[in-house]
Amino acid sequence: MLISENKVIDETRQGEATVLNAEVKDKKGNLYLESYGCQMNFSDSEIVASVMAENGYATTQTAEDADVIFLNTCAIRENAEQRVRKRLSELKALKKEKPHLMVGVLGCMAERLKEKFLEEEKLVDLVVGPDAYRDLPALVERTESGSKSVNVLLSLEETYADINPVRLTGNGISAFISIMRGCDNMCSFCVVPFTRGRERSRDPESIMKEARELFEAGYREITLLGQNVDSYLWFGGGPKKEFKLLSDEEKAASVDFADLLKMTAEISPELRVRFTTSHPRDLTDKVLHAMAAYDNICKYIHLPVQSGNTRVLSLMNRGYSREWYMDRVEAVRRILPDCALSTDIITGFCTETDEEHKDTLSLMEWAAFDYSYMFKYSERPKTPAERKYTDDIPEEVKTARLTEVIQLQNRMSLESNKKDIGKVFEVLVEGPSKKSVDDFCGRNSQNKMIVFPKGNAQKGQYVKVKVNTCTSATLIGELV
Ligand code: 5AD
Ligand code: SF4
Repeated sequence: MLISENKVIDETRQGEATVLNAEVKDKKGNLYLESYGCQMNFSDSEIVASVMAENGYATTQTAEDADVIFLNTCAIRENAEQRVRKRLSELKALKKEKPHLMVGVLGCMAERLKEKFLEEEKLVDLVVGPDAYRDLPALVERTESGSKSVNVLLSLEETYADINPVRLTGNGISAFISIMRGCDNMCSFCVVPFTRGRERSRDPESIMKEARELFEAGYREITLLGQNVDSYLWFGGGPKKEFKLLSDEEKAASVDFADLLKMTAEISPELRVRFTTSHPRDLTDKVLHAMAAYDNICKYIHLPVQSGNTRVLSLMNRGYSREWYMDRVEAVRRILPDCALSTDIITGFCTETDEEHKDTLSLMEWAAFDYSYMFKYSERPKTPAERKYTDDIPEEVKTARLTEVIQLQNRMSLESNKKDIGKVFEVLVEGPSKKSVDDFCGRNSQNKMIVFPKGNAQKGQYVKVKVNTCTSATLIGELV
């Protein structure tokens, strides 16, 4: 039976589709799964596919072939939700043709809207939050007998540690492993703590087992995933506790993020290790030294700053100042001189002045980010910012500030890429480039995409590539 890649829709990156095979015993039907939003959601979809495959549902490539359609949704910004609404309205016609078709909404939007989803969107049969995916087969069965189902219970413990994800997306070379779930940070603009619940770390043994199995299956790059990987702490399970509150026994057996990085890197020097996302408040020198100690831990950190102004950062409840962030960047430059940095920026947060916006521009320029994900502030219901502040920056001002931020970043990305011309990098070959079948593409340690003529190289191999030219998004080179 075919387990195949389904549609991947994302605001920041577009996944590449591949078809994977997996056995489905006692087939009950076809599942079509569409994912929106962040990498965590894509990773969750692989868990969903696994849970459903165990229960007789093979994934299919087209909505038309499906008995069950799941949309794994994102709620981070208003436009992410609008996209899901639009998709649901497109599915209405299909549901009319196939009355037995079941439509489920999973993920962050399901968690945010709960039962209300069933009232607002009549075609939806199932609403399931991020911690309730084990319950999906039972909910599907119940829904088959005519009743609509909702499970949006959040958990303090669920990490899906024992579930072997079905690798839906990707190239067979790089995979994501989720090491923790939820977020305790409560950044005032962010809906994630409400939709994904409390932070909890997954046990390191199950992470290592998954990483080893991927390596044995030919994968050569693993990205450890979490909302805030630097606060990863395993001490035997359960909700997050601070290190100083652990018993002596728990302390002795505990594994922090730097330890986990080293354990993963030691699986094989041929296995690259990446991670995302880091929080500037929690990124320790210990993690930076662990990165420095292993060639196969990639020299790239995504370090969202959000704003370059301390007053705005404080309204955002980010837990650091402009100076603290600069100190962390200096530590990165000192300990890892060849490390690339990227960031997230929000423009037009509540009460942000022109001067404060300029602080963001000047910090970006100072840090010389290699690239950035840039957004206009989008007020989210029930977040601390929605309750405490007024979303008072006019849309045109948010847009104008965003345009400035994007222009600056484009210039800096091009400058950063130009500096790489003439250099030779070790590249992990990911597969054919999007634009030409004669070219391969792959990334260097710094996470920059490099395109080069195939020569004798093979997918999954490490090759040396000399950079000859570039755009602001890509390096272009040749095998040496
Ligand atoms: N409006 C705009 N951007 C947001 N992000 C999170 N919440 C919002 C919001 N309400 C951005 C942050 C975060 C990234 C994943 O999405 O920059 O780091
Ligand atoms: Fe949201 Fe902040 Fe948690 Fe990131 S760290 S998920 S921005 S609350």
